[in-house]
Amino acid sequence: MRLMGKKTRDGKTDMAELLILVGTESGNAEMVAEKLRDDLGLVGYQVEIKTDFSDVERVFVDRELVLVCCATRGSGDLPDNILPLKMHLDAVPQYLGHIRYGVIALGDQSYDETFCGGGKLLDETLADLGATRIGERLEIDACSEQAPDEVALAWCRDWVTQL
Ligand SMILES: Cc1cc2nc3c(=O)[nH]c(=O)nc-3n(C[C@H](O)[C@H](O)[C@H](O)COP(=O)(O)O)c2cc1C
Repeated sequence: MRLMGKKTRDGKTDMAELLILVGTESGNAEMVAEKLRDDLGLVGYQVEIKTDFSDVERVFVDRELVLVCCATRGSGDLPDNILPLKMHLDAVPQYLGHIRYGVIALGDQSYDETFCGGGKLLDETLADLGATRIGERLEIDACSEQAPDEVALAWCRDWVTQL
């Protein structure tokens, strides 16, 4: 993976900032996000993992690059921790044309029609608000897949080359 960063006016290289929005109920998605943070940190990304959405109105302020890493609950629903973000974006729509994003959706294939519904919901929401998705959405069957974090890491290494 190439080293990432942007040049400042004095010629130094700023670390590229990436915000990972994690929707999780029992920790799988957070575990995946932590794996990505550790790996991307090695190639020059400054990664922040967000699991607490009590400050929903500030999530996209001063951000350009976002990775959604979200599990699914209920019947294709979002985990409780990230639900406030979706509710806020629905209630107070904001233009997100400055945001480029990727999506890692975790689910269980046996849920069939609602497979990875949480990640899909956020993908649709961000796209509707004008954000640009980079690459294809990754959908992981976290129940049959032995190492969802490794699958996500391989996807992510390719994803950053598309940025
Ligand atoms: C009560 C419950 C409901 C679920 N509903 C769905 C679903 O509708 N679609 C899906 O793809 N996965 C569903 N799953 C599977 C989870 O998304 C999957 O196990 C995921 O890895 C959990 O990640 P987390 O530990 O980050 O919460 C459900 C799991 C539970 C326990």
